Order: sequence, then C-alpha cells, then structure tokens
Amino acid sequence: MYYGAASNANNTSQLMKQRSTNMLKIKLVNNHNLQVADRLLSLQHECLPYDKPYNTLSGYWWIATTADNVDCGFGGLVNSVRWSDCGYLCRAGVVPNSRGRGLQKKLIRVRVNKAKALGWNWLVTDTHDNPASANSLIACGFKMFEPSSPWGARGTLYWRKKL
Ligand SMILES: CC(C)(COP(=O)(O)OP(=O)(O)OC[C@H]1O[C@@H](n2cnc3c(N)ncnc32)[C@H](O)[C@@H]1OP(=O)(O)O)[C@@H](O)C(=O)NCCC(=O)NCCS
Repeated sequence: MYYGAASNANNTSQLMKQRSTNMLKIKLVNNHNLQVADRLLSLQHECLPYDKPYNTLSGYWWIATTADNVDCGFGGLVNSVRWSDCGYLCRAGVVPNSRGRGLQKKLIRVRVNKAKALGWNWLVTDTHDNPASANSLIACGFKMFEPSSPWGARGTLYWRKKL
C-alpha cells in the first residue's frame, strides 16, 4: 500500500514534468539579429556564469521558451573546424528552474536533425566534469571517442555520433 502510494506520486510528478516539457518551444533563431544576440548572451550568463560567452555570430542557434514566452534554454551548432562533414555542438544551457525535464536532450535532437539536413555525416562535442550533459549525449546516441589531437583541457570527454 505504502509503495503503491509512493509510486503513484512518482508517476504524477513524471507526468507533470512531461507535460511542462511539452509546453516548451524550441525555435531556430536568427543569430545575426541584435535582440536575439542579447537573448543568447543573457542565457549564457544565466546558465554558464563562469564561462567566457561563446561567439554566437557563427553557426545555428536555438532558443527554448516556456509557455509564458520566457527564455529557458539555448543550444548552438557550428561546422567543425577539423572535419568539413562534421558539426560541433558548441554550447547549450538550460536555466536552473527548467532543468531535469529533458530539455537538453530536446536541444541536442534539434541540432542532430539540422546537421543531417545540412548533409553532415558526423556530430562531435566534448564535456568536462558534466555528468548531466554526458547522460543526455548517451541518451541521444552519442559515443565516447579519443581524438588523435585532443582539443580540450585535461579531463575532457569527447563524444561523436554518426548521422
Ligand atoms: C547540463 C544541462 C544543460 C542539463 O539540462 P537538462 O535539461 O536538465 O537536462 P536533461 O533533463 O535533458 O537531462 C539530463 C540528464 O542527466 C541526468 N542528470 C542530471 N543531473 C545529473 C547529475 N548531477 N549526475 C548525473 N546525471 C545527471 C538526468 O537524469 C538526465 O538523464 P536521463 O534522461 O537519463 O534521466 C543543465 O544542467 C545546464 O544548463 N547546466 C549548466 C550549463 C552546462 O553545463 N551546459 C552544458 C555544457 S556547454
């Protein structure tokens, strides 16, 4: 009886999370528009306050918004500087109160679809001390690999997906 009640509560909370994620919208944005650039910069500051903001002028960028039209996440995709048929998931973030609802995975999937539409054959990315991102990448079919010339700091994990 006790376990049944707990499991019902868990199911309800799962359902509520699922519904709230379904209400989030993810849009490919015009990163050359000044207002959009400001929104991406604010999201970078909020999600990654200790990191130097990534230059959002190149590549493709998506912004996620809540049902109330508040920005709650972002993701970027650029062409790899090493391999021409390959994209690089350059940066992503989800604001703290929207985390844990699968939004990062959705932001990965839109970029996978874009990379396929661009005719790229591979996607690569890296993580550093970030189990949540690593788990999202695994859930989206990425595998770890060892690049011949690693580009990240010591401890960086490298990920790729064949499209
Ligand atoms: C990393 C980040 C994008 C995750 O966003 P999110 O929308 O909460 O992620 P998701 O809900 O799609 O999934 C996260 C996955 O990691 C798991 N996870 C979350 N926190 C975890 C932790 N501390 N340790 C291990 N796994 C964790 C979740 O269970 C989920 O896996 P699952 O689907 O198998 O259950 C968000 O925490 C963030 O913006 N962090 C700061 C910025 C950052 O690190 N950006 C990425 C590098 S540029």
